[in-house]
Amino acid sequence: MMKIHGDFRQLRVAVLVSGGGTNLQALIDRAAQGDWSATIVAVASDRDGAYGLVRAEKAGIPAHVVDYGSLLKGGFGAGSWEPSSAELKELDSAQKILRITDEHARLHRLKRLVMAEHQLITLLDPHEPDLVCLAGFMRLVSPYFLRHYNGDGGWRVLNIHPALLPAFPGEHGYEDTLGYGCRWGGVTVHFVDEGEDTGPIIAQAVYPIWPDDTLERVRRRGLSLEYSVYAQCIQWIADGQVQVTGTPSRRTTTIKDPRYPEVLRGWTHRALASEPPL
Ligand code: GAR
Repeated sequence: MMKIHGDFRQLRVAVLVSGGGTNLQALIDRAAQGDWSATIVAVASDRDGAYGLVRAEKAGIPAHVVDYGSLLKGGFGAGSWEPSSAELKELDSAQKILRITDEHARLHRLKRLVMAEHQLITLLDPHEPDLVCLAGFMRLVSPYFLRHYNGDGGWRVLNIHPALLPAFPGEHGYEDTLGYGCRWGGVTVHFVDEGEDTGPIIAQAVYPIWPDDTLERVRRRGLSLEYSVYAQCIQWIADGQVQVTGTPSRRTTTIKDPRYPEVLRGWTHRALASEPPL
């Protein structure tokens, strides 16, 4: 189980990416400003060739790859760790991400996912992360991974999602928001739970969608919000200002920062100042 380092004054953060890693870059830049209470101690990707890995290397941050693509097809070396069938069944009863109805096929898929996660954990743990931040990490996360980091009731795995959850979970937040005809789009930072994009929301910010907007403009507007919101949420956690509240069936959070309204106003004003297309 993960240890918490000190009293959260300087959080050790591992960032998981799958692609370009502009969120990762924003966090690297935020850290470089020197007034942020988090240090990025490791980056990992589910695929070789993710540009986020290059960003990490340029910043001198250890970067790791677990090739989920080949592992999920069964590319494990001889003697690789694997879960017992009892453990696998128990993980299956807790998971909400794989909706394969055939039990045998679902367990098979879950087993490979858990084995890939085991490799990821093995690479991340020497860096002793306090938080694991998914930043464009396009893989499902199983209860095996969550339990490892959350331990007994903690919330240590975060995700940034490019839509105003619970609307538009999944992989195409900007496309889905624009395609639906929404007048406002949003971004969400949440703790990760056993479902897909269903965990307790920490913060959300909105941006306008102007008439005749394009996906490219919408994405650019949303991403620029993502960068600020993610860094701020990590700061709030470092400051001990995020409390997970609610009921067991619907966990929510409370932000204790007295400056919260000001922060929210800042995000909204900035997003509103974006130019509508002519
Ligand atoms: C971001 O928009 C992030 O919110 C999204 O992927 C993009 C990654 O961009 N994540 C998801 O859709 C997760 N379901 P980046 O690699 O440039 O940070």
